[in-house]
Amino acid sequence: MKNYDNVVIFNHPLIRHKIAILRDEKTSMKEFRELVEEITTLMTYESLKDGVATTEIQVKTPLEVCAQQVVKDDSVAIVPILRAGLGMVNGVHVLFPLAKVGHIGMYRNEETLEPCEYYCKLPDGIEDKLVLLVDPMLATGGSACDAIDLLKKRGCKQIKFMAIIGAPEGVSKVAEAHPDVDIYVSTLDRCLNENGYILPGLGDAGDRLFGTK
Ligand code: PRP
Ligand code: URA
Repeated sequence: MKNYDNVVIFNHPLIRHKIAILRDEKTSMKEFRELVEEITTLMTYESLKDGVATTEIQVKTPLEVCAQQVVKDDSVAIVPILRAGLGMVNGVHVLFPLAKVGHIGMYRNEETLEPCEYYCKLPDGIEDKLVLLVDPMLATGGSACDAIDLLKKRGCKQIKFMAIIGAPEGVSKVAEAHPDVDIYVSTLDRCLNENGYILPGLGDAGDRLFGTK
């Protein structure tokens, strides 16, 4: 895959370790859900290194008063792509407990692999926030591209997208369609199979999170 200025692939050993367990077909639904949350928290820490609004406060230490920067907690909004993105929300809330949550419902047509939007509810004022769009799987990139289009139509100007596993095809598609969006992927997998599943991947993230298969 080409290098893109707006793409960060983490490849962090601690995240790689957790992804290895996530991939295992024997990993239970409970452990899968916990791992998705933990990986998301680690990703959030790094992804929000730049761009988060801070404000100055005065803090009195036992020795003197000093100016300190604190994060404006409500300046971030989380937007999961349903369903599987829901599994990442708590992982962001650990760091940003006051972040409001918008929901974008998309499912992939199993034959065409085209995304179909079925739900969208975003918090008022989202256009002035840093929007963290989350979905564990970035396969063809269709769902992420459409979700970003939708956010932009709603006036969002600062968007970051986090996916746990990405396929090269999908990462390239989103990076090229939305060069102004920062894309964070924990690990880049090999390719997609003929059904649009990521290889080696972890199967269907939504089914594994919610026990639907
Ligand atoms: C999965 C996944 C992404 C999408 C990725 O959702 O959670 O949203 O596929 O594929 P793409 O990059 O090719 O668009 P799915 O459509 O299976 O819906 P679900 O989360 O409700 O299971
Ligand atoms: N969606 C998933 O949940 N898994 C894949 O491998 C591709 C899309």
